Amino acid sequence: MSHNLYVKNIGKVATPKGNKAIHGKAMGELDILMGPAAIVIRDGIIAYVGKESEAPGDLIQDCAVYDAQGGAVVPGFVDSHTHLVFGGFREEEFQMRLRGASYMSIMQAGGGIASTTKATREASVEELEAAAQVHLRAMLSMGVTTADAKSGYGMDLETELRQLEVIQRLQKSQPIALHATFMGAHDTPPEFKGRSTDYIEYLVQTVLPEVKSRRLAECCDIFTEEGVFDHEQTRRLLNAARAMGFTLKMHADEIVPFGGAELAAELGCLSADHLLQISEKGIAALANSNTVATLLPCTAFSLKAAYAPARKMIDNGCAVAVASDLNPGSCFSASIPLMYDLACIYMGMTAEETLTALTLNGAAAIGRADRIGSIEVGKEGDLVVLGYPCYKFLSYHIGMNIVHSTIKGGAVYTNHID
Ligand code: NIG
Ligand code: FE
Repeated sequence: MSHNLYVKNIGKVATPKGNKAIHGKAMGELDILMGPAAIVIRDGIIAYVGKESEAPGDLIQDCAVYDAQGGAVVPGFVDSHTHLVFGGFREEEFQMRLRGASYMSIMQAGGGIASTTKATREASVEELEAAAQVHLRAMLSMGVTTADAKSGYGMDLETELRQLEVIQRLQKSQPIALHATFMGAHDTPPEFKGRSTDYIEYLVQTVLPEVKSRRLAECCDIFTEEGVFDHEQTRRLLNAARAMGFTLKMHADEIVPFGGAELAAELGCLSADHLLQISEKGIAALANSNTVATLLPCTAFSLKAAYAPARKMIDNGCAVAVASDLNPGSCFSASIPLMYDLACIYMGMTAEETLTALTLNGAAAIGRADRIGSIEVGKEGDLVVLGYPCYKFLSYHIGMNIVHSTIKGGAVYTNHID
């Protein structure tokens, strides 16, 4: 299906620019185009961004017309870290945490990731797909046009492949573009209890090659954390994954300072994620690398943990992305309004930096900054039309979804009821 769309009557276009992650304070330097502005999308690709009065007639002649009614337009949001596909829920565990139990104590007692793994192993492809669809619909309504989706609740060959197959099916059954990440190394499953190194070997020898040959994921992620997987195990898995052609990601420095950021930079990961406990050295390592620092403020909020030091990271030259971490345990939310507010109010980021973090830097964190993440001619036609005239309302209108319509590759998905 080809999508030719003429978006007119735009109050303001706000976007970062470029084909790679933006580091440091430059994250706050958006390109602003005052309205009345227009954007033309042809065959799903942006063909014009500029004054409405100067939109070339030949480009717009056969386009569907969308009136933004003076609303601001920003790039489609990229949620670069989700555990989208899972069975069951953990609402009781959340109540335990409210009463003071820690995330790791629940995990060590056999709950946490292990309980979702049990439920995921018992779920069919259809059940997993239907459950994920619910989240994707909500995400689309909040302006998300691309999202990462991880496996990691199977932790055996069959269920890891099933989760990734669900992601592949979702790719075709709904509009949000998905980036599939293999995360078999999410925890050590019961079959390998006390033998985490053997489990890593199993992933390297048996699971990764199968994921690769079926082309079910482009990226490989691992939970590098005290008591989960150490540096040596991380190196073994990620070096093997890189050799097979996967890009790399790492859950790093989430619960205790563990040198994860430094290791992610050294291994050339696309991103190091969480970083609540990042050290000074870790900040310097990321600032001097191409590894994006992906921060997940809703997880810190949900765990009542200290937020990642975003301000310090940006001031020291890191490229920061913000993502949801949607999962049934540490963060059962994919709320763009919540993460926008937490980033601005509790992590000291500006509205401009947060926009870059949710668009171009998110795109870089999944290796797609050349195609998405900004509103520029030649990039994919992924836009968010707001119900207010300025992107600043994304931070200011607390916890509210101000998305009027989400445009994916020129197709319009509207929240607006006339
Ligand atoms: O990113 N840290 C590990 N993984 C997830 C949580 C997964 C879960 O609790 O089910 C995270 O927070
Ligand atoms: Fe995660």
